[in-house]
Amino acid sequence: MYFITPLFFWIGVLAVVPYLALVLYGAYGCPEQNLKDKYNAKWALVTGGSSGIGAAIVRKFASQGLNVVIVALDDATLSKFKETIVAEFPKVEFRFVGCDLSEASGEIYLNAVKESTKDIDVQILCNNAGFITTGGYADIALKREMANFHTNVTAGLTLTHHFADEMLNKKLRGLITFTSSSAGFIPNPMSALYSSSKIFLTNFAASIAAELAEAKIDVLVIHPSPIDSNFYSNAGKMSALTSAQKFSSPPSVIADTICRNAGKIIVSDQGPITVVMKIFMTKVLDWNVFAEIMKLGLRFNGDYKAMKVERPTKKTN
Ligand SMILES: NC(=O)c1ccc[n+]([C@@H]2O[C@H](COP(=O)([O-])OP(=O)(O)OC[C@H]3O[C@@H](n4cnc5c(N)ncnc54)[C@H](OP(=O)(O)O)[C@@H]3O)[C@@H](O)[C@H]2O)c1
Repeated sequence: MYFITPLFFWIGVLAVVPYLALVLYGAYGCPEQNLKDKYNAKWALVTGGSSGIGAAIVRKFASQGLNVVIVALDDATLSKFKETIVAEFPKVEFRFVGCDLSEASGEIYLNAVKESTKDIDVQILCNNAGFITTGGYADIALKREMANFHTNVTAGLTLTHHFADEMLNKKLRGLITFTSSSAGFIPNPMSALYSSSKIFLTNFAASIAAELAEAKIDVLVIHPSPIDSNFYSNAGKMSALTSAQKFSSPPSVIADTICRNAGKIIVSDQGPITVVMKIFMTKVLDWNVFAEIMKLGLRFNGDYKAMKVERPTKKTN
């Protein structure tokens, strides 16, 4: 039995040390890269590019001399951003595709994107648009949940298929990014669809990263620590989100992370909150155990009590 303690020690070391080495490399070992030069690219496309993280990515790319196609809801946020960004970067070319990425089939927005990019080569695709729906899964209208799923997941799958296919056919180097979330590391009752949509993206990105590597198309999936954006004002009232927002960083840190980590690592756990969550909630605590703890503890959680929809009591004869 004398070997048990060292065995656990080495399991712990193997679980955490290579992970921390990658985190430190991603955070401090990768200098900023000019993506226009790296991929010999002229055009990038950013979904959810009208606000928050997406808008910061657009600014960063424009500052590197890349032209950008911005895909976002056709609303006042997009019109306002259009005016601002064009004035900020008069020498850069922008194209704007106002569309709804929550469409189930993806046909309408894919056609709009194809039409807008038919004469250019998009070599950098940032699948970033997304939002969170809060509340009990069965308490929220299915239409809303599915719109959330299609925006967070289906749109990324659809656009990635189209642009990866184009890059492969034309033998172009490129980069595909996904804005995932550390919410996907653990079960997230009262925002179940959000966390599961994000872990879907992480798994998908890591899988296609291997498929596309030989063709020199890099894939990067980012798990941001809290970022100050409209994400929180658009989410329902949830104290866990209010607390997270207090620790938020500006959206530009994600744009910087993309430029540093592109082609260097596949999964980028950005910021201390994501790293601490990853270590304690996936490496120290086992996922299966975490699920049991959530099940036992949720009924005592304030957000759960506040959001739970009371159903009519069952009639008894
Ligand atoms: N903020 C954080 O702390 C945080 C942390 C982890 C991950 N993320 C992820 O980061 C991504 C960007 O979020 P953000 O924080 O930058 O929030 P944001 O400021 O609300 O930006 C979201 C962007 O997505 C667009 N969008 C939303 N629904 C859309 C739809 N149906 N069709 C087309 N565009 C749509 C928005 O357009 P409108 O503004 O017009 O709605 C906006 O441009 C999201 O995927 C989010 O899940 C955020």
